[in-house]
Amino acid sequence: MNRCEDGAIFTIFGGTGNLSYYKLMPAFYQLHQEGRLIKRMAIVAIGRREKTTKDYIEEVEVAIKQKSKTYTKESFDDFKDHIYYYEMDFADDEHYPAFEKYMSELDTAIEACGNRVFYLATLPNFFPTISKQLKTYGLLETRGYRRAVFEKPFGYDYTSAKKINEGISEVFGESNIYRIDHYLGKEMIQNIHMIRLSNQIFKGVWNKHSIDNVQITVKEDMGVGDRGGYYDQSGALRDMIQNHLIQILALVAMEPPADLDTESIRQEKVKVLKHIAINKEEVIFGQYRGYTEEEKVPSDSLTETFVGLKAHVNTERFQGVPFYLRTGKYLDTREAEVIVEFKNDSVYKNLEASMESNLLVIKIQPEEGIYFRINTKQPRSENRLMPVSMDYCQSCNIVYKSPEAYERLLLDITLGDRTLFTSWEEIEHAWRIVDKLMAGIENKRDYIFTYEPKTDGPSEVHELLEKEGHVWWCLSALTATYFQDLEVEDEH
Ligand code: BG6
Repeated sequence: MNRCEDGAIFTIFGGTGNLSYYKLMPAFYQLHQEGRLIKRMAIVAIGRREKTTKDYIEEVEVAIKQKSKTYTKESFDDFKDHIYYYEMDFADDEHYPAFEKYMSELDTAIEACGNRVFYLATLPNFFPTISKQLKTYGLLETRGYRRAVFEKPFGYDYTSAKKINEGISEVFGESNIYRIDHYLGKEMIQNIHMIRLSNQIFKGVWNKHSIDNVQITVKEDMGVGDRGGYYDQSGALRDMIQNHLIQILALVAMEPPADLDTESIRQEKVKVLKHIAINKEEVIFGQYRGYTEEEKVPSDSLTETFVGLKAHVNTERFQGVPFYLRTGKYLDTREAEVIVEFKNDSVYKNLEASMESNLLVIKIQPEEGIYFRINTKQPRSENRLMPVSMDYCQSCNIVYKSPEAYERLLLDITLGDRTLFTSWEEIEHAWRIVDKLMAGIENKRDYIFTYEPKTDGPSEVHELLEKEGHVWWCLSALTATYFQDLEVEDEH
């Protein structure tokens, strides 16, 4: 290996935020434990607060102890040498000359060969400003690679996102820009593609002729906690649907790419995103009772903490197939899955014990796996059917411990692989979908329903499906055994 491939400085703007302590640092630590962290990697956390590197390391250790199941004192002591804290106000350009000097010295000290990653985990309106200062003050004039990573949210709507994108693109070429949607780093979301495209049994039926509807659910069981200030400006539609759920939808609905190149995959996703429509009559917003009493949330807030909707995918492949999406906070459980319900049609459909539709469930979290329901002959009956399932739990299998999403993404950034990051076109079209929907909603009061914490959201979201003859499938009910309810009848 070329010695330069083994050195880099990874700078985090927003180094004292929750994301750094609870996601990025634990992910770096895990990579370190697995021997996959670049050897001469300096992780520089930037914060405004006055503290030493030693203080910062102590805080990181507390967070890692909390998050990592594999924490050991010895390996943390080994890992901590990678961490540096640098105090500066990134909004103030006067701080950049000293920062440039610090980075050059550090570069020489660790032999980073000028390889630099700038991870911007700040409010999005700072993205262009910080990028510009990095350029102006010579932080990008190095002989190595210069990559920029942008955390979500990427803007608040299409107009703000476009402005941000123009600002960062003046500084970084597209090939050095990594826009994060951490759901793309989740193992089972990457698996959607593989399951669809590597199994002959699904390839031929992945279309409107065989699929009845698709359900994408991401439930969270906690309220907004101390993120009320951010969340109230965003809401579930912008915080989750615009990015994570629409990305999942695109992976389910896209055409198979010609090859597995980053650009080929992105282009196919964009083609789908261009053809998604959501009607305001088919959206349910919810707010959990007590939300307006959360810290930093105005008492008259109409921000939604829940969204359930029907999306239309107007492509040749999926025209007419409803894609139901729902996500919310403070619900009954933390669970995410994609459920593909196939059409229920065959010579057996009119039998007394009617056949059930085939269901393919891709379980994203907390359990990772695949569930598939098919019909089979009920033993000892003449021609009764019963549904049986094949249920594979990947996360139950100790051998296949999936990496956390951020581990995969951080590794890909250091390797220069942009496949699991979103392109501007994807973000652009996702915002257009959301903006169009919001523009049609004159008075949000008419669309928002209160729901009790720890329930599965406003009951109106069930009516949304019932009026179309569908139900939200409940994974835990599905995975409970069928045999309990079966009347076993000996027909011989
Ligand atoms: C983030 C949202 O993008 O995703 C949060 O801003 C949300 O509000 C989080 O809680 C959910 O991520 P995960 O990986 O815990 O499902």
